[in-house]
Amino acid sequence: MKKRLAAGLISVLCFLTLSGCAPRQQELQAALVLGFSQLGSESSFRIGNTRDIEDKAKRYGVSLMMDDANQKQENQIKAIRRFIAYRVDVIAFSPIVEEGWDNVLTEAKQAGIPVILVDRTIQTSDRELFVSQIGADFYEEGVMAAEYLLKKADDLGKDQLRLVEITGTENSTPMKQRHEGFMDTIAKDDRMVLLESVNGDFLRSRGAECMRYLLDRYGDEIDVVFSHNDEMTMGALPEIEKLGYRPGKDMVIISIDGGQEAIDILREGKINCIVECTPMLGSILMETALALKAGQSIDHEIHPEERVFSDYDDLSALPPRGY
Ligand code: AHR
Repeated sequence: MKKRLAAGLISVLCFLTLSGCAPRQQELQAALVLGFSQLGSESSFRIGNTRDIEDKAKRYGVSLMMDDANQKQENQIKAIRRFIAYRVDVIAFSPIVEEGWDNVLTEAKQAGIPVILVDRTIQTSDRELFVSQIGADFYEEGVMAAEYLLKKADDLGKDQLRLVEITGTENSTPMKQRHEGFMDTIAKDDRMVLLESVNGDFLRSRGAECMRYLLDRYGDEIDVVFSHNDEMTMGALPEIEKLGYRPGKDMVIISIDGGQEAIDILREGKINCIVECTPMLGSILMETALALKAGQSIDHEIHPEERVFSDYDDLSALPPRGY
């Protein structure tokens, strides 16, 4: 184990030297070397997640090698290979999509480096390729979004509600599971009619594009917009307003994440409901990585607790969200 730590520290020194940074005393004494591949910076969730992991690494005395994959799976695979070559103690990454990880994770397994998935999960026939997934229960998020809608439908007293859905990145865990959780829950209710589901890639600009398309195609048929993240919702809202509709009143707006900007818009009444998806996973990640290094057993899935914010709640005392 000592050998591994020494090798890991030498690797970090090389990495820091290559990237032009002199190692600080804290890095030399790090309890653990963690390689983390972040998938990108597409949303306030993601930026908050990166910041939280960096902050918590410092707090826990973990030496962090952070890599930003710029929304490309191939960059994540390259980063994981670099971490293996550096012989870090633990590899963690947020997989942009679910498929296509078996080869690189088999290489990590052969090198004896444990892997933790952060935020999203993967499809693999070998459950041993990763030790744990730390992230939201995305299916449950879809269920919570739909449960809000069923309650709202009762209060609105309408016979029918026509919905559009703007989903996140194709083949990503949140996109698949939020859709399934939501659809499974509304399927039991005859009032709900899905007009169309379109892909907005979790980006604000794509949220705007998708909304323009949906308004053009369905106009005032749309009663409900279910958007898979705040970023796309905030892209969609101005498009709705441009055509003279009042989001939150003429259309029920349901979003996911719960970043500060979206919560402020919910308070203004232009979003009706936000299901929380917390990016604050840094402490659990550091504790899990340290426990792994200490040889303790780890749960295969670790989900943070999440809640719903909606126009049924008094949010005046809600503390700043931090992302
Ligand atoms: O994987 C979590 C999702 O990814 C968040 O809901 C979204 O904002 C982010 O891009």
